[in-house]
Amino acid sequence: MLVVDFGAQYAQLIARRVRELQVFSRIVPHHISATEIAEIAPAAIILSGGPKSVHVDGAPTLDPAIYDLGVPILGICYGAQLIAQQLGGTVSRGSRGEYGRAVLTRRGDSSVFGASIPEVHDVWMSHFDAITEVPDGFRCSASTPDAPVAVLEDDKRKIWGVQFHPEVVHSPYGMQVLKTFLHDLAGCEPAWRMSSVIVDQIERIRAQVGDGRAICGLSGGVDSSVAAALVHQAIGHQLTCVYVDTGLMRKGESEQVVETFRRNMGIELIHVDAGERFFERLAGVTEPEAKRKAIGELFIRIFEEHTGGITEAGYLVQGTLYPDLIESGGTDGTAEVIKSHHNVGGLPDDMTLELVEPLRDLFKDEVRALGTELGLPDEMVWRQPFPGPGLGVRIIGEVTPERVAVLQEADAIVRAEIADAGLEREIWQAFAVLPDIRSVGVMGDERTYGHPIIIRAVTSDDAMTADWARLPYDLLERMSQRIINEVPGINRVAYDITSKPPGTIEWE
Ligand code: XMP
Repeated sequence: MLVVDFGAQYAQLIARRVRELQVFSRIVPHHISATEIAEIAPAAIILSGGPKSVHVDGAPTLDPAIYDLGVPILGICYGAQLIAQQLGGTVSRGSRGEYGRAVLTRRGDSSVFGASIPEVHDVWMSHFDAITEVPDGFRCSASTPDAPVAVLEDDKRKIWGVQFHPEVVHSPYGMQVLKTFLHDLAGCEPAWRMSSVIVDQIERIRAQVGDGRAICGLSGGVDSSVAAALVHQAIGHQLTCVYVDTGLMRKGESEQVVETFRRNMGIELIHVDAGERFFERLAGVTEPEAKRKAIGELFIRIFEEHTGGITEAGYLVQGTLYPDLIESGGTDGTAEVIKSHHNVGGLPDDMTLELVEPLRDLFKDEVRALGTELGLPDEMVWRQPFPGPGLGVRIIGEVTPERVAVLQEADAIVRAEIADAGLEREIWQAFAVLPDIRSVGVMGDERTYGHPIIIRAVTSDDAMTADWARLPYDLLERMSQRIINEVPGINRVAYDITSKPPGTIEWE
């Protein structure tokens, strides 16, 4: 089914909810034409909410011929107002908006609610304009204090609209409304599952790569790991993975990548132990951007050195996810051929590889489920995001092997304690930072002059904004005691209580 995006932050959430109801969903832009939709032949369409008023100039509309395709349509919020306006009803500028919880009262028979949903119940609203008159052929089946037409329905044309947001958890019967629309009114089979994704993707990868060779740059992160595991199931030894170990990885991470891919999964893996070269290049570099640039450039050079030998490789596997594509506006499903400097992993400029992106239809949580299904260990599937330049951007000042070793120990303690406290899946990232200052302390009977460790733990949905995690005091105390007792040279621990904005998640 298709979610037509009118610019709401809710379009992605709607698409995910639909998938939770085991119906495959895709987001399409609002300027899609009726002809394009007819070609896709979806089982149903949902029109998302949007930030604009239907009355302003340039407000996005829907190709009106789409209403005549006979495909069942559910409009949500702006989508519902658009249905009312485009089909001949009235949308009035309200005297005041309705934001947050509202009490909805049903008015007679309703197909979207069915018999089991209470006559009066709470819904989540976010609108200023309100539908005041339904188009011919529609009936109004519910209202709230500020939305005279909170639900409009035309069973004959198979078009329904709800002013409230059924996709958010604050609408307690919202999922039931979506379920009724998809399964009962639109007749979508609840048949979409992870196992069918695997079977389907394996076929597609085989069809794309044939008997060619593919390479995949592993970072140790979730996306590239799952992409590699999936492609390996499809083409086995035709895949070679390259793991550039920068020496700036977390404690035990490189061993785990090698263990999982080479030993457990039997994937051909080139493990490039490049720590020394990175430390050499980083000697004396202290400015954050210079550091990032140095690490990035050397990474590309080394990746190139080690893939240069695989001359017959024609394909590059990337762990691009659906949200990455939505953000870059490329959801039309066409395969691109791109050159090196557009690639995260980095490739020589004169080398053109065709991309294999088996995760491009999936959301992060679906990729995790897929990873588990493919047999990847939990530590890998539930790994926190980790910046490309690694611990290099968590060491303020010069990056040396000694300072990396100190930070690795402290970081391992932070992550182990978070895991022990059962907070791993609630916290977006939790890690240690090593600044280049020193402070006076006393340990035993001796005066110390050592470095502090700063603990950074944040909650976030997408890393665009973040809040500092309200970790329990006793957990912070355990981390502090262990770091000071177990990591030589550290005599003080501080906790970063800055949100993003104004701070960033990383320190450099
Ligand atoms: P900031 O520090 O900008 O980080 O709040 C936002 C998210 O991005 C991660 N991050 C990176 N990821 N390469 C990456 O792949 C990078 O250079 C990089 N820098 C930051 C960071 O860990 C956080 O999740």
